[in-house]
Amino acid sequence: MRVLSGIQPTGRFHWGNYFGAIQQYIALQDEDEVYYFIANLHALTTVRDPKELRELTFDAAIDLLALGLDPNRATLYVQSDVPEVSELCWLLMTGAPMGLLERCHAYKDKKARGLRADTGLFAYPVLMAADILAYDADAVPVGEDQVQHIEVCRDLAGSFNHHYGTVFVLPKAVVLENAARVPGTDGEKMSKSYNNTLALFEDPKIQRKQIMRIQTDSRPIEEPKEPAGDVLFDLYSLFADDSEREAMASLYRRGGFGYGEIKKQLADAAEQFFRDARQRRVELAAKPDLVREILGDGATTARKKAGMVLRRAQEACGIR
Ligand code: TYM
Repeated sequence: MRVLSGIQPTGRFHWGNYFGAIQQYIALQDEDEVYYFIANLHALTTVRDPKELRELTFDAAIDLLALGLDPNRATLYVQSDVPEVSELCWLLMTGAPMGLLERCHAYKDKKARGLRADTGLFAYPVLMAADILAYDADAVPVGEDQVQHIEVCRDLAGSFNHHYGTVFVLPKAVVLENAARVPGTDGEKMSKSYNNTLALFEDPKIQRKQIMRIQTDSRPIEEPKEPAGDVLFDLYSLFADDSEREAMASLYRRGGFGYGEIKKQLADAAEQFFRDARQRRVELAAKPDLVREILGDGATTARKKAGMVLRRAQEACGIR
């Protein structure tokens, strides 16, 4: 199986990124061919400060490596280092129906929140399709919010294949059931643009305060509570194994506890869970040359593959 996924360097990575996507990247890195990239071209639709974008891109690479991405097993690269993808994007764009893109939630949501609706934002799923199709990827590990974009990718690949003969492999989204949509501190989807994130590499003291501030209902301590759908329970479940989750669920149903106790357990669990990665991050940050070398090697491998697929597509549509 060929696996591929991308992540935008638009800010510090958060629990949603990790549990929805990054943990899958790591679990899948022993598959036949594995490509993970930092989507800086996508990030250009929101990050307009060049220095910031450069730093966020490099930090994203350090984060992924610290979290366990192994460059000997997976190809790690920066999206813009593979210009073949942008060229493939144009080929797909020429056959991408406006209506299909207008229906995409991510575009509609951002527009509704007042973000400038420029062409980059609108055509975002086409670039994403090129990202995936350029590597003949079969499986794309993502959170639920990206599933619609992968359906768009399948549609675009399907109609290109229909018109020009079989050129592209049709990919499938791989979504984890228990982390498809990690809630943020306000119960909405955790997202950088909703300002409700808990960052992976936050200072543990600051993070503890953020967790303590999570809004809960005001039921009295003795009252039994239903765990399903409770933000604190859902967040705690990300770090817990089955028996810990069950123990917490029965504590909820029994009642007689305050939310402060759960928050404390959640903060402890998170601190413990990311402790080793935090340490590795410090070590990697001190070796920028090594990180640059990993990204350079990744780009060389990625370009080889994407170049082959691009030639196939160019030949099929008569521009080569
Ligand atoms: P991005 O950068 O917004 O998010 C990266 C990954 O994190 C997942 N994710 C979540 N999962 C569960 N719960 C959440 N609250 C949560 N928040 C984020 C996302 O689903 C995603 O998997 N368009 C993509 C980047 C991209 C891409 C690609 C992905 C560009 N090209 C090709 C796959 C294949 C994006 O904006 O992800």
